[in-house]
Amino acid sequence: MRAFAVRSFGEPASVHDLPVPAADGAVLIRVRFAGVNPLDSNLLGRLTAASSYPFVVGIDFAGVAERVPAGDYGLQDGDRVFGMARTYGSYAEYTAVAPAARMEPVARIPDGLADDQAAALPIPATTALRTVDLLEVTAGQQVVVMGATGGVGGYAVQIALSRGAHVIATVRGDVGEARRLGSGEVYDSQAGDVIDALRAAHPDGVDAVLDLVNGPDAIRRDADVIRPGGRLVSTIFAADEGWFAQRQITARNHASSANPLISPHGLVTVAQMLADGAITARIRSAVDLADAGQVLDELRHGGLRGKAVIRL
Ligand SMILES: NC(=O)c1ccc[n+]([C@@H]2O[C@H](COP(=O)([O-])OP(=O)(O)OC[C@H]3O[C@@H](n4cnc5c(N)ncnc54)[C@H](OP(=O)(O)O)[C@@H]3O)[C@@H](O)[C@H]2O)c1
Repeated sequence: MRAFAVRSFGEPASVHDLPVPAADGAVLIRVRFAGVNPLDSNLLGRLTAASSYPFVVGIDFAGVAERVPAGDYGLQDGDRVFGMARTYGSYAEYTAVAPAARMEPVARIPDGLADDQAAALPIPATTALRTVDLLEVTAGQQVVVMGATGGVGGYAVQIALSRGAHVIATVRGDVGEARRLGSGEVYDSQAGDVIDALRAAHPDGVDAVLDLVNGPDAIRRDADVIRPGGRLVSTIFAADEGWFAQRQITARNHASSANPLISPHGLVTVAQMLADGAITARIRSAVDLADAGQVLDELRHGGLRGKAVIRL
């Protein structure tokens, strides 16, 4: 099978011909689309000589279950399925997931939902829904999403809006897209200091901030725009929770390992939100496997608008 992979330590990722995963006891999946996420290149950067090779890039997938092991998994051979393939990767013609593995959920794609849309959901949509839940977003609240037009941010803006929140976006250049998503206010980090602008517009502070972009130093400035009793979530483990607690702000670092939505139930929940029109997948590019490296470069260096998927 063709796969975008690293065959041995130190080699760059590229397209190779690899054996189909043997994967006894796992669901074997013919991949149709792989979803592209920052985590894909982060994991590439963390490979060591002790990692297992070949390393196939990617986690999110949508495709067809070709072989379902015996057991009551709610799946049958031939079902269209989507999910997360952490062991065998997803930028490949085939992947496999152990049906009961905690971090490798797989679920049927609801009727009416296209494969490319399903592939754009697993990591970013379950993360967005979980973080909006952690922020306890309710109607009428003022919620800032920093990095609002990226994979997670785009879904988070839409979910917060569906709960009746007033959504304030910060972006890097992509003002029009944040407005199209329905953000009530948009601040562009390329046009000026967004914290100064937010503080001027909201001197009493906002209720909640979802920070998808700022590291451990920069995120402290979020305290200047959150009201006492407000909430903050970081997806990149940047928030010093004790430091924020001293400022009457409940800060949480969101870890995927603690996300209960990384489960078949969580997958079905976000797919249903897409099917119901509460969220859209915002796929901006669907590329062939040969272009996977280029898409990862664009994601790393910025400017990849909306979601990208790889067509297998
Ligand atoms: N903890 C978890 O479970 C979890 C799960 C998913 C993701 N994550 C992490 O969360 C982060 C966001 O993920 P993602 O999938 O949404 O990434 P993404 O698709 O790359 O989106 C990030 C967005 O933020 C924009 N941006 C960059 N710097 C900015 C700034 N200073 N101000 C405003 N916007 C800025 C980017 O613009 P450009 O296009 O110009 O770069 C991009 O639109 C990543 O670091 C990812 O690894 C964590």
